[in-house]
Amino acid sequence: MKKPIAGFSKLSKSEKIEWIAANYTQNPQELKKILESYWNSDSRLQQLHDEFIENTISNFYMPMGIAPNFLINDRLYAIPMAIEESSVVAAASKAAKFWEGRGGFRTTVLGTEKVGQVHFMYHGSTSKLLDFFKNIKTTLLSEAEHLTQSMQKRGGGIKDIVLKDKTSELPNYYQLHCTFETQDAMGANFINSCLEQFAETLKKEALAHPYFSEQEKQLEVVMSILSNYVPNCLVKAEVRCPIDQLNLTQDISPRDFAEKMVRAVEIAKVEPYRAVTHNKGIMNGIDAVVLATGNDFRAIEAGAHAYAAKDGTYSSLTHAKIEGDLFSFWIEIPLAVGTVGGLTKLHPLVKLNLEILQQPSAVELMQIMAVAGLAQNFAAVSSLVTTGIQKGHMKMHLMNILNQHNATDKEKEAILAHFKTHTVTHRGVLNSLENLRK
Ligand code: MEV
Repeated sequence: MKKPIAGFSKLSKSEKIEWIAANYTQNPQELKKILESYWNSDSRLQQLHDEFIENTISNFYMPMGIAPNFLINDRLYAIPMAIEESSVVAAASKAAKFWEGRGGFRTTVLGTEKVGQVHFMYHGSTSKLLDFFKNIKTTLLSEAEHLTQSMQKRGGGIKDIVLKDKTSELPNYYQLHCTFETQDAMGANFINSCLEQFAETLKKEALAHPYFSEQEKQLEVVMSILSNYVPNCLVKAEVRCPIDQLNLTQDISPRDFAEKMVRAVEIAKVEPYRAVTHNKGIMNGIDAVVLATGNDFRAIEAGAHAYAAKDGTYSSLTHAKIEGDLFSFWIEIPLAVGTVGGLTKLHPLVKLNLEILQQPSAVELMQIMAVAGLAQNFAAVSSLVTTGIQKGHMKMHLMNILNQHNATDKEKEAILAHFKTHTVTHRGVLNSLENLRK
């Protein structure tokens, strides 16, 4: 019978490991061996990672690859990607190379606005609340000045605060809808600190407001938090070329290929089951760069999917069209990311990856990520509408199967050579391995 534990966080790392080994595994020695094998031999580096979170017992590795040849607005990038899924880096690299020869990617940042809200309940006259808000707006701003000075020096700060009446959706619910510019920072701490200050000012001013009834004075702040839905922190990335240059494979004419691409995107626009997978493929590319640059992939995912549903049904984040002889394929996606603060100076690999990306500003990083998403989607959909996805996938998966079965270098060499000319299936790989081992 397992028992709950009190004070787990107070135990030392080795005590935590002892406890988990004693209570949650059949083989305590093996558990310790595996956990320790992932520790870094540089104790300073290990301590840094230990201190990123609580109750750390080991590191969880993720492969980091490079997708080279991304020509973005006439500048070449090699994009670092951290991802566990076979074929994502290969697909990105393939799409990058393809478009590098056709003018590359063009990007535009359509907005950089971040959002935060103070959610509160107020029982009383809406018009009195509106007057009250008009009176206190400058106080809301001035009392947050101590928090905004350094952001203002960097060209950012609070853009606006708007009082929103949400009572038609939820009785007595109002909000301060606040917008911010946070320059190269993702800005979560800055925004949340400002919001908590707004909430304090709001409560204080309500209590002191001479025209409020006792009930109106007791306005209740429920929470103050940034929103990961940032439809105005938006970037567009696009590729286009004459249709006759869409000569990806011999199996299909460029015109048929272009039409199939457009149809595939149209399906993802109207069919949510397909749209989710279509967008998942986009996020394969984006998340990998988000992770490699120390950004918050959960925030990016949440915001991207909300944007995909902005018109009421979940839909494709990419678009495609044929105009005369020209094929265009583009993405529009909200990406609130940072290149300062957070892990950027702390995590040696994040620091290195930002260097590889030529020290991008947040706005440049948005463009690079959007391009990674577009490239990934182009690669996935172009496979889907031609050879199907499994051919490439299984090829990349081959190594995973071999590793699962502890293939030696020699075995790997022989089997990789064999599957250059044969279709990869799980059973087929196992058969080859068994034959070799006979
Ligand atoms: C797999 O990780 C991603 C794909 O399913 C994306 C897509 O279907 O467009 C291949």
